[in-house]
Amino acid sequence: MAQQSELPLITLIAGDGIGPEVIQAARQVLTAVGFRARYQELEAGYGCFERCGRPLPPETLEAARRADAVLFGAVTTPAELPDYPSVILTLRRELGLYANLRPFRTVPGLGRYGDEEIDLLIVRENTEGLYLQIGWREEDRAYNLLRRSEPASRRILHLAFREATRRRGRLTIAHKANVIKPADLLWIEIAREVARDYQVDWSLEIVDALCMKLVRDPGRFDLIVAPNFYGDFLSDLLAGVVGSLGICPSANLGAKHALFEPVHGSAPDIAGQGSANPIGAILSGALMLDHLGQSQKAQMIRRAVDRALQGPIKTPDLGGQAGTRELTEAVIAALHGEGGQG
Ligand code: NAD
Ligand code: IPM
Ligand code: MN
Repeated sequence: MAQQSELPLITLIAGDGIGPEVIQAARQVLTAVGFRARYQELEAGYGCFERCGRPLPPETLEAARRADAVLFGAVTTPAELPDYPSVILTLRRELGLYANLRPFRTVPGLGRYGDEEIDLLIVRENTEGLYLQIGWREEDRAYNLLRRSEPASRRILHLAFREATRRRGRLTIAHKANVIKPADLLWIEIAREVARDYQVDWSLEIVDALCMKLVRDPGRFDLIVAPNFYGDFLSDLLAGVVGSLGICPSANLGAKHALFEPVHGSAPDIAGQGSANPIGAILSGALMLDHLGQSQKAQMIRRAVDRALQGPIKTPDLGGQAGTRELTEAVIAALHGEGGQG
């Protein structure tokens, strides 16, 4: 039996909106699969800002730095407050989380494309592009700075090519170099250089046409690497393609730290109703287990999710009427071999 101090330290930042609802579900599933950890729960988000004047208190950031992994729910970022900092962007920046990995997988029977199985990974650059959040107003004009740098591009492209060799040896590189010059020209120049180090079948795709192809024929693609902003749009587009934003997980990885979060936001339209789909958060927990070297348990969770979703218990985003709690219980029952139809 592991000593308490040897157990991984997990910082839980549930956030606001549906964040706490889905993080509670993820934690229950992690416990049910037998994952043992020391959990620290820390505050962040809009409610936290209203209570203590800060959306991301320093103690939350410190706990995130100390943790072996962070599990994050979601937070609301009010668009109309110009100086309000985004909690998740601050965490990605402060923890050096340069890679955002977003697997999109159809749950059998629930994709938008009948029985077609989609298993696609987006590798999103997570530090720059328009996300520097450097901008200014000049009377009736507003500007935002877009940066691509050689080191950040090289680092994420290497990661994507390495992933491609572990998957199906195919990689699509998203860009908009026909317009966004010189930034995206630098991106594709570095891509061509990095490609020489790998035996990977790669291609460049202009991102708007790529969106169309992903909707028409998603099975053609396996791994897409994208600059930050394009990766954001492609993510929600693919979430729609695989059935719901509510089922999509992600990993934010850096040299020292790792943070796991569902792709969705705080969903204020359904918060507090107990109807949020917990699967994106549960599968983010599975990605966290992969990262902590507990892939067998991660696979058990993924299989239990597939089995549970083949049964009748589904949240409204998947066309059902079940609540967060019922679906979480169905996943746990499937983990124990009692539920689902598999
Ligand atoms: P959203 O992802 O919160 O919601 C988009 C739509 O998907 C909504 O209709 C919502 O009800 C639905 N949805 C999302 N997650 C769901 C789930 N688990 N189950 C069922 N339905 C789900 O995006 P939005 O509405 O554009 O943004 C709301 C707030 O969330 C904004 O303040 C935004 O800044 C923030 N946001 C935060 C994060 C994050 O914390 N990482 C990510 C995206 C958006
Ligand atoms: C995401 C979100 C964030 C992003 C927002 C909330 C800053 O949309 O994780 O996809 O744009 O990266
Ligand atoms: Mn997004």
